[in-house]
Parts: sequence; structure tokens; C-alpha cells
Amino acid sequence: MANLNIDFCGVRFENPTVLASGVLGVTASSLKNVVKNGAGGVTTKSIWLEEHKGHKNPTMFGTPHFFMNAVGLSDAGMGKAKDETFPEYNKDKPAPIIASIVASSFSDFERLAEQINECDVDIIEINISCPNVEDEFGKPFGCSVVDSAKATQAVKKHTDKPVIVKLSPNVSNIGEIAASCADKGADGFCAINTLGPGMAVNIEMRTPILTNRVGGISGPAIKPLAVRCVYDIYKATKLPVIATGGVLNGEDAIEMMMVGGRLVGMGTMVYYRGVEGFQKVVEEMDDWCEKNGVKDLEEIIGVID
Ligand SMILES: Cc1cc2nc3c(=O)[nH]c(=O)nc-3n(C[C@H](O)[C@H](O)[C@H](O)COP(=O)(O)O)c2cc1C
Repeated sequence: MANLNIDFCGVRFENPTVLASGVLGVTASSLKNVVKNGAGGVTTKSIWLEEHKGHKNPTMFGTPHFFMNAVGLSDAGMGKAKDETFPEYNKDKPAPIIASIVASSFSDFERLAEQINECDVDIIEINISCPNVEDEFGKPFGCSVVDSAKATQAVKKHTDKPVIVKLSPNVSNIGEIAASCADKGADGFCAINTLGPGMAVNIEMRTPILTNRVGGISGPAIKPLAVRCVYDIYKATKLPVIATGGVLNGEDAIEMMMVGGRLVGMGTMVYYRGVEGFQKVVEEMDDWCEKNGVKDLEEIIGVID
């Protein structure tokens, strides 16, 4: 068995697989269930300062090639996360927890950072990259070099915990954006958030499939884009990255690590392989290591020039 342990921003993960934000990460019990099924760590659904309503159903649909969602970042707000989710998860805490936070202003990011700093979480992930709330909030901060840096600074000012920034693929130069966040103290990155937004039509009904009309694209179709984005971010900053986007199996995860991923995030995989998929991906990574004479995953991180 290869050594699959990973140190990420000073936090130890038993294996590199991490639940991506927004998928199953709504309650402490579902987060714990993901760890029971093999994940090395979990990310919460993105948390707002106050309750935020999402979009109307249907909010998601899938095909063998891609998945599209317009959940719209529904969330009960920071109060509930602080009083229920984190204390409950931390009773017999099974693995590191990454708290994803989201805001529509820099001042809200500051207030969120103050509050989350008091919570028992290992890493803070700043979501500046959701593409399916543009009607409400306009272009995400993650589409601008200046706004990405400002959001990073707003959070870093109020916490000593490791802060990673979740980046958008919907930009012309993701390396430049990552570098601007690194300048303001980002400790690492998670990439990518969903692509788009995209749109799909029910041709029998002559209506858009999603009530919101458009939604973020995830799953296998976006993997080559995610691989290139992780590569660019790692090249630009050399900071640790949770490589996310279209990973379904152990070989996908190994590919992500070769371009600079230290951890590997999975969301849509759960819709294709079930929550048991985490354990299967870990076993597939281990099999690959054995076949290829890799004794420690550190040997492959960022090996692609
Ligand atoms: C149903 C659904 C909900 C999501 N909600 C969030 C969210 O709340 N915050 C966030 O940062 N990303 C969210 N994402 C994006 C995922 O975390 C991930 O970045 C993206 O789906 C690409 O990875 P994947 O192909 O493994 O799903 C969501 C994705 C899906 C499919």
C-alpha cells in the first residue's frame, strides 16, 4: 500500500479525496457519512452570513457526459453552521473540515471571516466563483483580478486559519487571478468551480430544462479544462491546490495531482458512483501507485513541467 497521506496547509488528510462544496455537505451527519465512505476530508456547502434562498426546482439534471445545476447557493446562514453543523461534526470528528463561505460584498466577507475564525474548522474556502447567481449579484468576484484579491484580503485580515480561494474557470487568465490572491496572502486554492453558465432545452416541451434557465456545468466534460486550470494555478503560485472538476475515478485523481493538485475534490462523482465512490477512488489510486512503483503520492505532485 502506498502512502496516501497528504499535508495540506499544515492539516493532515488520511487520503487526498475531498468532498467538493455544495454536494452532500448540508448537515453534519451527511458530511460524516462521506468520511465513513472513504473521503479524506469534507467541504461544507457555501455558507452565507444570513439565510439565502436558492432557485426554484428543477435545479439540476445530468447526462452521461455532464451535469448542470442552478441550486443558487441556498443556505441557512452562518448562525446555523456555528450552532449546529460544526459542533455536531466535531463530536468524534472523523476528518478535516473545510468551511466554504460566500458573500456578495467585501464587508460581508469580513464579517463572515470574523465569525468563522471562532469556529472549530481546519481551513476556510472563499467561494468567489459561482456562475449561477449572476442575475442576483452580477459577475462573480472571481472573474476580476482586483476583486479576487480584495475578497482574499477581506478574509485574511480577520483570521489566522489557512485560507484557500475557490477559483472560476470562466476567465481568460486563471494564473494571473491566482497570483493576485497569493499576493494578498492566500494559502492555497480550490479549482475549479462550475463552468458557464450553460443552458439546455427540453425540445418536446420547448422550455429550458432548468427553471433558472441557465446553470453551472460540472462532471466529466469539464475535466480537461480543470486539469489545465490546476496546471496554470500551480505554475503561477506553487501553492497547494484542491484539484476539482470532473474527477470520477482514481486515474482522473492521479492526473490532477500530476499537474499540481495536492488534494482532489469530487462533487458530481457522487451522482455517477454514489457516496461509496470515495472509497473506490482511493482504492483505484492505490492500485495505480502499486502498478507504477509509486510509494508515496508526494512523488507525483506537480511532476508535469
Ligand atoms: C449541485 C451542486 C452544488 C454546488 N454547490 C456549490 C457551492 O455551494 N459552493 C461551491 O463553491 N461550489 C459548489 N458547486 C461546485 C462544486 O463544488 C465543484 O467545484 C464543481 O461541481 C466541479 O467539480 P465536479 O465536476 O467534481 O462536480 C456545486 C456543484 C454542484 C453539482
